[in-house]
Amino acid sequence: MTSEATTTDPSALIEAAASAPFGTVFGEVMSVAEASDAGWTQPSVVPLTSFTMHPGMHALHYGSSCFEGLKAHRTVDGAITPFRADKHAARLQQSAARLMLPIPPLDLVTQLIDLAIEANGAVTPPAPGSLYLRPTLLGTDVTIGAAAYPSHSAVLYVLACPVGDYLPPRPLTIVVETEVPRTTPQFGVVKTGANYAMALGRIDLARREHHADQVLFAPGGVVQETGAANVVLVDGDHLVTPELTDAFLHGVTRDSLLQVARSLGWTVEERTVTVDEVAAWAARPGAEIGLMGTAAVIAQVGTLVVGDRRIELAAQEPSKLVELRRTLGEIQTGARPFTFA
Ligand SMILES: Cc1ncc(COP(=O)(O)O)c(C=O)c1O
Repeated sequence: MTSEATTTDPSALIEAAASAPFGTVFGEVMSVAEASDAGWTQPSVVPLTSFTMHPGMHALHYGSSCFEGLKAHRTVDGAITPFRADKHAARLQQSAARLMLPIPPLDLVTQLIDLAIEANGAVTPPAPGSLYLRPTLLGTDVTIGAAAYPSHSAVLYVLACPVGDYLPPRPLTIVVETEVPRTTPQFGVVKTGANYAMALGRIDLARREHHADQVLFAPGGVVQETGAANVVLVDGDHLVTPELTDAFLHGVTRDSLLQVARSLGWTVEERTVTVDEVAAWAARPGAEIGLMGTAAVIAQVGTLVVGDRRIELAAQEPSKLVELRRTLGEIQTGARPFTFA
């Protein structure tokens, strides 16, 4: 595990991050704590280098690993503030619980996040850039005979990456998948590598067959989410998104955008969304479809592939999705006051 592009000059690192692919330039330090039967160690900050791990480590064999992804923003008053770290910490706890990993206390996770931000402050770009943080929890028991047992020991570290304003260069092409699930039913809400690995094959196929960027998973015709983001339909001040179920990840961006949209007086519906409805939505003049997640906040969908149909969405000017994204950006940098529930 090594970082690809570290340098001791913070401004060079920030500059490198502006043009590098998201998450490939790393801050030079990370925060870390370890769990054993004796409990959790005190958090500390260590250089980001390759670390030693036993090839028989539980996480490598039995998938006892999960992670989070959040951003810290330079705010208008000069601070560097993580966005809704408490929500991300709670989701990490939920993932840990489902994977039977030692559950890190909430304040330990937020403390590790704060330490990583403090230690990487010099490489945090100004807005619209930010510091992307990746809390990572791995089961570290050394055993290859524990397929039926959880790991009792674990390591939790927080990586930091300076990132630019991450937005795809053009509206995305999305293929709707109604046969193959994104994840197993028990792991829908778990942020673990297996979910992403499971989606990769369909995404790769969609890329090769349709020049697509992502896949919208809708087993049995009911829309869940894409491989790495929640989906939202917008038409004027009307917003529709699938209601929360155990089948997909409960995005912090989704939750934040819904609260912001409600505060702006929009009509917000969380309910079952079918593939037929999404296809009809995409074909309607004035309608927009977006993908919600920490990295891009909202990425716009330009083409939807449903079976044999390739539906091009009309570009909206002005775009309500762009307005919503901008508003959340103002909140994240403290330019616009907002208190999340
Ligand atoms: C599968 C999946 N769904 C949804 C999201 C969006 O979640 P969030 O808004 O918390 O980043 C992500 C990104 O983390 C994801 O990987």
